[in-house]
Amino acid sequence: MRAYRIAPGGTLRGEVRVPGDKSISHRAIMLGALADGDTTVTGFLEGADSLATLAAFRSMGVAIEGPEAGRLRIRGVGRDGLRAPSAPLDVGNAGTAMRLLCGLLAGQPFASKLVGDASLSRRPMRRVTEPLARMGADIETAEAGTAPLTIRPVSQLESIDYAMPVASAQVKSCLLLAGLYADGDTCVSEPAVTRDHTERMLATFGCRVRRERQRVCVPGGARLTAAPVEVPADISSAAFFLVGASIADGADLTLPAVGINPTRVGVLHILKAMGADIAVANRRQCGAEPVADLRVRSARLQGIEIPAAQVPLAIDEFPALFVAAACADGETLLTGAEELRVKESDRIAVMAAGLAQLGVAAEVLRDGIRIQGRGAAPLGGGSVDSHGDHRIAMAFAMAALRASAPILVRDCANVDTSFPGFAALAVGAGLGIDEAVA
Ligand code: S3P
Repeated sequence: MRAYRIAPGGTLRGEVRVPGDKSISHRAIMLGALADGDTTVTGFLEGADSLATLAAFRSMGVAIEGPEAGRLRIRGVGRDGLRAPSAPLDVGNAGTAMRLLCGLLAGQPFASKLVGDASLSRRPMRRVTEPLARMGADIETAEAGTAPLTIRPVSQLESIDYAMPVASAQVKSCLLLAGLYADGDTCVSEPAVTRDHTERMLATFGCRVRRERQRVCVPGGARLTAAPVEVPADISSAAFFLVGASIADGADLTLPAVGINPTRVGVLHILKAMGADIAVANRRQCGAEPVADLRVRSARLQGIEIPAAQVPLAIDEFPALFVAAACADGETLLTGAEELRVKESDRIAVMAAGLAQLGVAAEVLRDGIRIQGRGAAPLGGGSVDSHGDHRIAMAFAMAALRASAPILVRDCANVDTSFPGFAALAVGAGLGIDEAVA
């Protein structure tokens, strides 16, 4: 099993270019495949998750050249041009691929089956299959409402106006993609703002998306027109370095061209509220998405009560933020984040267990966590288990910057799902990380 052995202490300096945004990379393949014309993608994340989406579309007859240094050319087959895959579509660890594809496949004239790895096969899928059933889709899940998902063709999907019970961009995007195949306008309302990459990219591809506050509608039968996609650096991957450089002594790190879509910047707001020194410079547009260069320097962090509105805007960054909280003065309290329990792992339980190994007191709550920061005192060293969760592995790797002894992080192979080359980039910036087998 792949592991990271990280030497204690050290700092992060220089410039780190983190790979392309995972959410946007998945969507670029999907919309590019369904578009009329060729779509060129630059900055594509060559991680296992987005490569699984790419492979799924290849097996539905879409010709895709690349990826080569993050560059792809997708020969769009048009809205009705996908072909029946000859085998189940295996999306590995990728929840975004499974949930978005489920919506898209529900509207196809052929049967298909979506399968995933052990972690993905434990994650809830009724949140997409139930509203899709209301649209008339025919999808079978395993008994627990989990993958595999067997999708059978229906003659016509019906549009719905759906109020999501959970704030989920994957559910929203799934229904919008199904809506392209429905008989009228499909509308989705969200209880809190979630990432809006699908809406932005649909608009770029010429789809008349209507957006009113927390409600979005797409017209049934819309056709998409190919458009170039420039994928920004992933703020979710940058988050590990933002936290690492905040907690390390003497750090000064620049992260260029990071996506700062307002629906993704919870990590910046939360870290700044904790006292982090992060400068956002050179704001510009990267296609439909705003980007900026982020410069982060060491800071004395303060525990905070995390504002509820920031939770969906930082949903993937909590493993890293919990490490920041562990190094802060005083207590950090997170509530309203039960979604963390159904990510690639139960991120509340797994982070609390790992923090305990490092001598950090953390109380597990039903919907969050209470962390007692160690302030100026170092974290302990020791062995932590990531439970195959990429973000937990990278968060604990950064914790070593403030540890008094080496940290061993076990089960790290899935870092490749979102951040291939993480260890090498981290070493370049100064982290004493070694890949090992443990
Ligand atoms: C994603 C949405 C979020 C996020 C996931 C990517 C997306 O999931 O956690 O990593 O690309 O739409 P939820 O929609 O389940 O919150």
